[in-house]
Amino acid sequence: MLTAGILFHTFIMLMANTMAHPNFVLIITDDQDLLLDGLVPMKNTLKLIANEGKTFQNAFVNTPICCPSRSTILTGKYAHNTGVTNNTVSGNCSSKYWQEQHEPSSIAALLKNSSGYLNFYAGKYLNRYGFDDVGGTKHIPKGYDWWIGLKGNSRYYNYTLSVNGTAVSHNADYLTDVLAAHSLDFLENRAPDKPFFMTIAPPAPHAPFTPAKRHENAFPGTKALRTPSFNETPSDKHWLVGMTPTTLPANVTILDGIQQGRLESLLAVDELVKGIITKLKDSDVLDNTYIIFTSDNGFHIGQFTQPWDKRQPYETDIRIPFLISGPKIPKRTLTKYPVSAVDIAPTILDLADVNIPSSMDGKSFKSQLFSSAEIPTNDFIFVEYWGEGAPKTIDARCPWKGDDELSECSLDQWCKCQDSRNNTYSCIIELTQSQQMKFCEFEDEQAFRETYDLMIDPYELKNLAYELSEDVVRRYQDIVRKFKTCQGRNCYTLE
Ligand SMILES: *[C@@H]1O[C@H](CO)[C@@H](O)[C@H](O)[C@H]1NC(C)=O
Ligand SMILES: *[C@@H]1O[C@H](CO)[C@@H](O)[C@H](O)[C@H]1NC(C)=O
Ligand SMILES: *[C@@H]1O[C@H](CO)[C@@H](O)[C@H](O)[C@H]1NC(C)=O
Ligand SMILES: *[C@@H]1O[C@H](CO)[C@@H](O)[C@H](O)[C@H]1NC(C)=O
Ligand SMILES: *[C@@H]1O[C@H](CO)[C@@H](O)[C@H](O)[C@H]1NC(C)=O
Ligand SMILES: *[C@@H]1O[C@H](CO)[C@@H](O)[C@H](O)[C@H]1NC(C)=O
Ligand SMILES: *[C@@H]1O[C@H](CO)[C@@H](O)[C@H](O)[C@H]1NC(C)=O
Repeated sequence: MLTAGILFHTFIMLMANTMAHPNFVLIITDDQDLLLDGLVPMKNTLKLIANEGKTFQNAFVNTPICCPSRSTILTGKYAHNTGVTNNTVSGNCSSKYWQEQHEPSSIAALLKNSSGYLNFYAGKYLNRYGFDDVGGTKHIPKGYDWWIGLKGNSRYYNYTLSVNGTAVSHNADYLTDVLAAHSLDFLENRAPDKPFFMTIAPPAPHAPFTPAKRHENAFPGTKALRTPSFNETPSDKHWLVGMTPTTLPANVTILDGIQQGRLESLLAVDELVKGIITKLKDSDVLDNTYIIFTSDNGFHIGQFTQPWDKRQPYETDIRIPFLISGPKIPKRTLTKYPVSAVDIAPTILDLADVNIPSSMDGKSFKSQLFSSAEIPTNDFIFVEYWGEGAPKTIDARCPWKGDDELSECSLDQWCKCQDSRNNTYSCIIELTQSQQMKFCEFEDEQAFRETYDLMIDPYELKNLAYELSEDVVRRYQDIVRKFKTCQGRNCYTLE
């Protein structure tokens, strides 16, 4: 009787456990924009996630560059608290400090520690992951049971994966397809009694913008989007954007080709999404699985005469796709509720009923998921960026050769640099029902400011910073200053 009682009790516990703990699939693409048609090729993704759930129309990253942004997604902490400020080890990208200080409290590690989640990761992790100076491909971040980590930055062919700590090189296999195969393998062979958390991080549509062979020329004649800001003279923008040339050349075939490659490279991601969701459905777990689709930052192509990159505070670079479906989320809903990358980790923990550590800077938006009503908002999004100087990335044929205050200056970008040390800035976006104001301040010799009224000027054509009253400027500066040093729960209430 006693044994039966204990067994019954265990059974009830197991049932409760299964019901209380949903599964998660988090898909993070690389450099996928929202505003330059980045979601247009994703027909299956829109049908299977957006139409089955909720689209957050005001979703942002807190820093528009891969490694720092991914570190924020994984930890729920702003870059000033992860210490990850750029894509190099000296900027704490995948550094020993990161491994010791932050990996033990990533979403995966916390889900495992509190609720025994089975954790899977496949794809690009952090740009410096897998190199010898940070432990090589043997290193498996704490908390993962099934680890398929890409060594280094995004590639499509000729790359090395750490498969559970063993280096496996591929030459001719298209990475997105290899990640899809590993994901299906996991879903087929995982221990079925445990809740799971999968992160899948495909390389698309990052440079070199290579589609799978079967998708080459799927979108012939595609042109870079001629937004109202395309080739717009940057007369009221900060120093870097105002650098010469301030008009794009007549022949921008290269920009059009990049747009085409980006859209085509996303088709394999769209197939990956479809494959995973089909498998979840066939395994009868789709109903208990939250699926989140997003990107690590946006992208610009030709806006304000900038060639192509991210790293700027403009909407093209900081706005990202954000789709979520799952248990009890109403179908086909849109919301303007503002969310940012830092909120992803606390929201996942909240949905899993796991305690959110007080050291997390982000806020759970769980309560916004289940309502189909539009909720009034009054919130700030915070964005910070540290400009880079890297003489190695300056083409020797450009006039700025060797300047260690500049970086990413190439001949095919007409020597217009994509970054500089003084491209260091912090911004807030104030989002209420009646206004959307962006305020940015640069740490350059001019303490340059940019302000846009996004409600009436979504393309950021007119910088209002020097027309604001002193009081308004002071209020914004004060909020920015508080965000820059905020930590944990004190990032919630800054006014
Ligand atoms: C990493 O960040 C921490 C905290 O910001 C800092 O103390 C440390 O010096 C950084 N490490 C490197 C290698 O820059
Ligand atoms: C893991 O869980 C234990 C006990 O529940 C707790 O004491 C510890 O702080 C947790 N570790 C982390 C990194 O959250
Ligand atoms: C990775 O390790 C897990 C846990 O040990 C194992 O179940 C899985 O089969 C391994 N995956 C691969 C691709 O080797
Ligand atoms: C991959 O590497 C092989 C051998 O070094 C080379 O022949 C091939 O062109 C490379 N493929 C790509 C797409 O770079
Ligand atoms: C435009 O530039 C591309 C190289 O970027 C070149 O292949 C093409 O021939 C040029 N087109 C014209 C019309 O000059
Ligand atoms: C990355 O950040 C570190 C720490 O702030 C800095 O020393 C380094 O110069 C930065 N790298 C680049 C390329 O700017
Ligand atoms: C930004 O840095 C560049 C490169 O050192 C310099 O030429 C320029 O004057 C600086 N601009 C401002 C506004 O600080």
